[in-house]
Amino acid sequence: DSLYRFPLIKVRGIPLMCHIADNWDSIWAFCPDPSDILIATYPKAGTTWVQEIVDLLLHNGDAEVARRAPTLERNPFLEMYSPPPIPSGLSLLKRMEPPRVIKTHLAFQLVPEGFWEKKCKAIYVARNAKDNLVSYYHFDQMNQTQPEPGPWEGYIHKFMNGELSWGSWYDHVKEYWKEREKRNILYLFYEDMKEDPRREVERIMRYLDLSLNDDVISRIVELTSFNTMKDNPMANYSCIPKVVFDQSISPFMRKGVVGDWTNYFSPEQNELFDEDYKQQMEDVNIPFRTNI
Ligand code: PPS
Repeated sequence: DSLYRFPLIKVRGIPLMCHIADNWDSIWAFCPDPSDILIATYPKAGTTWVQEIVDLLLHNGDAEVARRAPTLERNPFLEMYSPPPIPSGLSLLKRMEPPRVIKTHLAFQLVPEGFWEKKCKAIYVARNAKDNLVSYYHFDQMNQTQPEPGPWEGYIHKFMNGELSWGSWYDHVKEYWKEREKRNILYLFYEDMKEDPRREVERIMRYLDLSLNDDVISRIVELTSFNTMKDNPMANYSCIPKVVFDQSISPFMRKGVVGDWTNYFSPEQNELFDEDYKQQMEDVNIPFRTNI
C-alpha cells in the first residue's frame, strides 16, 4: 500500500536499493576533485550531524550560510537515486563547483576509487551497533523508499546477517577502520561526539586544516546540538515530502542519545547479539565505547 518500498539488489555482494543498483555504473565512474570532502557512514551513525559541523566549519560558523539549503542539497548524497522530486546525488554534483562535501553510505570497497587516487579528505563516523540498529529500525519505518523493516525481532537478525540496505554494519565499520591510516581517513565515533562535542568539532577542524577562533567554535557546537538541529528546517529533513519520509511515524531527529538500545533489546536478544558481535568483530579491535 506504499508508493515505494523498493527492493534491494546486490552490488558486489552488498544489498543496495534497486535504483542505486540500476545506476551503479555511473556511480562507480564518479570522479571527484581533490578538494572534495567525503563523509562516509553506515546509515544512522551520525551523518547529518557531521555534515552540519563540516558545513559550518567551512563557512566560519555562519548560520545563515548553513541555512542556504537543506542538507541533501548542500552535501550531495553520492549514490542516491531517489524518486522525484528528490534530485540524484550525481545530478547535484554535476551542477556544483568543487570543493564539494559529499555524503555516502557505501561500503569501503564500493567507494569510487577516484576518492583515494585523488587523496580526498574523508571523514568516517561510526556508532555503536545497538544504537545504530535501533535508529535504523525507526528510520526504516518512516522512510518509504526502504524495504519494510518488519517486526523488531526479525529486524535484529537482518542487521546481524547484513541483510539491510547498504549491507553489514560489521563489515562497514571494520573495512574503513582497516583503511583509515593508509587513506588518511578521520575515523570518528558518535559516542565521542556526544561526550565532548567541542573536542570532536576541533578534531574535524584540524583535519580540514582550518583554524577558527574559540567563539566561532562555540557557536558551531551550539548550532549543531541535537535540539538546534531538530528545529532547523534545513537540517531536519522536513523538506522531504511525507510520501517519502513520513516523520509522523518517527522523526528524522528522533532522540539523538547514547544507550537508547536498552529500551528495545530484551535480555535474551542482548545475549544473542553480544555473542554474535564477539564473533563478527574478533578480527579487529575498534574502540567502541558503549558504557556511557
Ligand atoms: S542518515 O539517514 O543515515 O543520514 O542518518 P544519520 O544522520 O546518519 O543518523 C541519524 C541519527 O543521528 C541523530 N542525530 C544527532 N544526534 C546527536 N546530535 C545531533 N546534532 C544529531 N543530529 C542527528 C538522529 O537523531 C538519529 O539518531 P536517533 O538515535 O534515531 O535519534
